[in-house]
Amino acid sequence: DAVALGGYRHYMQKEIFEQPQAIANTVGAIGGGVALGSALFGAAEQWLDQIDRVLILACGTSYHAGMVARYWLEAVAGIPTVVEIASEYRYRDSVPHPATLVVAISQSGETADTLAALEHAHQLGMTKSLAICNVPESALTRTAAATFLTHAGPEIGVASTKAFTTQLVALALLTLTLAKLRGRLTPEAEAAELTRLRHLPVALQAVLAKEAEIAAWAPHFADKAHALFLGRGVHWPIAMEGALKLKEISYIHAEAYPAGELKHGPLALVDALMPVVAVAPNDQLLDKLMSNLEEVRARGGELYVFADQGVSIPQVPHLHAIQLPEHYGLFSPIVHVVPLQLLAYHVALVRGTDVDKPRNLAKSVTVE
Ligand code: G6P
Repeated sequence: DAVALGGYRHYMQKEIFEQPQAIANTVGAIGGGVALGSALFGAAEQWLDQIDRVLILACGTSYHAGMVARYWLEAVAGIPTVVEIASEYRYRDSVPHPATLVVAISQSGETADTLAALEHAHQLGMTKSLAICNVPESALTRTAAATFLTHAGPEIGVASTKAFTTQLVALALLTLTLAKLRGRLTPEAEAAELTRLRHLPVALQAVLAKEAEIAAWAPHFADKAHALFLGRGVHWPIAMEGALKLKEISYIHAEAYPAGELKHGPLALVDALMPVVAVAPNDQLLDKLMSNLEEVRARGGELYVFADQGVSIPQVPHLHAIQLPEHYGLFSPIVHVVPLQLLAYHVALVRGTDVDKPRNLAKSVTVE
């Protein structure tokens, strides 16, 4: 194991640090030039220009990737998108729409519910399906009409990290491709977004360099029973993923809320014993988020904020902030999830849990 870990203490930590390379490998699918096009998506090339809706099916962390993609697909490609938890979709009576692209997201390609949900969509006549998967020869890639492979490499830690960020890269490429097919992406915008995607590994290195700063926060979480994660817009699913990571490996109860919903319940829970983590990118929702955070602070909450460079953080008691690189535009969620992975990892270390094999959880859930 020591050799396989290559100097890291756990597979999860190693996999967090492998993300720049995993992302570079996944972006590599587009080759050197400006080459966005339906051919990236294998057999989907024949019909990707015929769809007018997207239905995303997944479980766990992969579901959170789907939730990010919904924001992207509607905003950038202008395609109505729904995201469903696979175990719900497969058993509910829903209304099929023939011109739907069904996207099944799964690291392993063996998750029973995701597979069954995809088969259910096929039975309802929605056969234009795309698997976004990390395992080439899997049940999911055999079932879907087309496949886009993420190139995360084997993921050993039960808590998914590099599979998630490479799924987001795949979904970003899908979004940009659909936008292009629909005449919503100028050649200049396409070139600019691809340049940003190719630069993403460098941006992630700058986030990974914050590990010691993030680790210093861990003791403030390790002795608590609850934590609240806040985000808005496309970063709400990132807050959800941060809460899931903390739950999975540190066994601390964590919940995520879109910050605008605070007043509708969670504010009642706020006190000094429930740390509040905020995902605070420098986007059009920042001012609203900051006023949500002030509501938390005014009620005695302790705030831990991940902000972009350039966000002015009030120097006030009970507000701690770590500054990330500059706002990363469309792909900001990929940058912002990394510090949350590191936070969960270091809290679990302080608590002494079995980070790579958390109790009661499996890497791949092949039974219902
Ligand atoms: C399990 C794993 C999670 C994963 C989920 C979905 O719960 O512990 O890390 O996100 O399954 O797995 P999949 O392989 O379909 O992405």
